[in-house]
Amino acid sequence: MPDIVTSEDIHRRAADGESRLYVPQEAIITDIARETARRMSVEIVVGEPDSPRPESDSFGERQDGVLRLSEAPAESPPKRDSSSADGVVQKVDRSPFSPQELRNLRAEFPSLQSTVHLANCSQGAQSLRVRRAVEQYMENWRASGMDWDYWVQEVNNAKGEFARLIGAEPDEVAVVGSVSEAVSSVAGAIDYEGERNRILLTEAEFPTVGHVWLAHEKYGAEVDFVPLRDGELLLEDYRRMMDERTAMAAITHVYYQTGYKQDLEAVAEVIHNQGGYVLVDAYQSCGACEIDVKELDIDILTTGNLKYLLGVPGIAFIYVRPELVPELEPADTGWFAQRDPFSFEVKVLDYAETARRLEGGTPPVTAAFAAQAGMQLLQEVGLDRIEQHIDYLSGYCLRGALTRGLQVASPLEVAKKGPTTAVQVPAEESHAIEMALKRRGVVTSARGSMIRIAPHYFNSEADIDIALDELRRLLG
Ligand SMILES: Cc1ncc(COP(=O)(O)O)c(C=O)c1O
Repeated sequence: MPDIVTSEDIHRRAADGESRLYVPQEAIITDIARETARRMSVEIVVGEPDSPRPESDSFGERQDGVLRLSEAPAESPPKRDSSSADGVVQKVDRSPFSPQELRNLRAEFPSLQSTVHLANCSQGAQSLRVRRAVEQYMENWRASGMDWDYWVQEVNNAKGEFARLIGAEPDEVAVVGSVSEAVSSVAGAIDYEGERNRILLTEAEFPTVGHVWLAHEKYGAEVDFVPLRDGELLLEDYRRMMDERTAMAAITHVYYQTGYKQDLEAVAEVIHNQGGYVLVDAYQSCGACEIDVKELDIDILTTGNLKYLLGVPGIAFIYVRPELVPELEPADTGWFAQRDPFSFEVKVLDYAETARRLEGGTPPVTAAFAAQAGMQLLQEVGLDRIEQHIDYLSGYCLRGALTRGLQVASPLEVAKKGPTTAVQVPAEESHAIEMALKRRGVVTSARGSMIRIAPHYFNSEADIDIALDELRRLLG
C-alpha cells in the first residue's frame, strides 16, 4: 500500500472496478488524489479491507501542502484540538475586494457603522437598496390606492431575478411564503400509494423540513434520515440508503448549525442512479456562493430571502426542473397555481403548465419588492467574488477561533463549509451569550450549543476579530 496516495493510485483503483482504496493510518493523500477520488467516486478508507468499521478520511490536518490523515472523532459534533489553528485548510488565501472596494460595499449597509453584523445565517443586514424598494411599494400603494398589475409584475420580476441567480428560466420558478410552504407543496404532490413512497432526509435538515415530511406519513410516506457522522454526511450512506422505493431525497446544501456543506453534484448522482429526485434546501447557501441548478443536476431547489439574499421574511422561491412539472399536482394549492388565475372557475382544478403550479394564494408583494432589490445587489457585486470573500473570511474565522482557544464545531476545511463558523458554548447559555454579544454591538446567532458567526460579502477581518475577542471574553 502506498504511503503517499496520488491520483495515479485512484485511477488504478477505478480501472480495477474498485470503489474503495484502503490506506494506512499514516498515509499522505495529495489534494489532487482527493479531488480525483471525488470525481471518480472512489472512497479513500483508512484501515484494512476487513476492518470492522472503515473510517472515512474526512478529518485531517494540512502539513507541507498535503493533507495528513488523523483519526476521525467518534461523536458528532466533532471535537477539535483547540490549541492551534494548524488543522485549518484554506480555499482562497485572500479576498477579491481591495480595502477601498470593501469600504464602498459596506456603505450600502448603514447599520455596519455601529454594529458588527455576523448573523447572516439568520437575517442579513439591511441595505439602502432593499429599504428603498419596500418604501417604493408603500409609496405606490399610498399614491395609487391599488395597483395589482404593477405589483404582480414586480413579483414576476423577483422570480426572474431568482432564476438568473441559480441558472434557471423564470418559468421554472414559483413563489411562496416560506421554505416550509415550498416543501409542503412538493410533499403534497407525491403519490405515496405508488411504488415509491420513501423520502430520504438527512440529520442535517432544518427541523421544518423533517416536520413537513413526517406529517405526510399519514398519507403513506416513509421517512428516513441519512445520519450525520462526525458532523458530515457520507456518500457511502446515501448509496446504502437510496433504493428503488425512494421517490425523493430532500436535503440541505449547508447544515444550518455548523455550516457543513455537502457535495450536491455527487449526492444527486447517487439519487438519480436509483431513479429518485433531489430537492435541495439552499437557505444556508444561496446568495453566499455560486449555484447553477443545471450544472449540479438538481430537480427542485428552494430558498427564502431573508438571509444571504438580503431580503425580508415572507417570501421563498422554488425552482422545478421543467420535465418534472407535469408529474407534480400539489394538494396544497390555490388560484395562483392555476393555468389562468383570473378565469374564476370555482369547479375546475387546472394546474399551470409551469412551475407556477406550486404556488398558492395572493403572492407576498411587499417581500417581493425587497427580494428583487436584494438579489440585484448580489448580482452587481458578483456571486463568484462574494463566494471567494466569504471563503476567505471562513478560513480567517476558523483560524481566529482556534488560536483564541475556542471550540469549533464546523469543518476545518473551508471547501467543506458554507459561511457559518459555529463556536461551541454551554447549551443553556447560548441565547444569553447571543444577547450579551448584541449589547456589545456584535450580532450573531445562537442555535443549541453553538454561537454561529456567519459573514457575508460586506464583512471584514476586523468584524471577525471583534466578534471572536468579545466571545472569548464572555466565555472567560
Ligand atoms: C436551512 C434552512 N431551511 C429552512 C429554514 C426555515 O425556513 P422557513 O422559515 O422559510 O420555512 C431555515 C431557517 O433558518 C433554514 O436555515
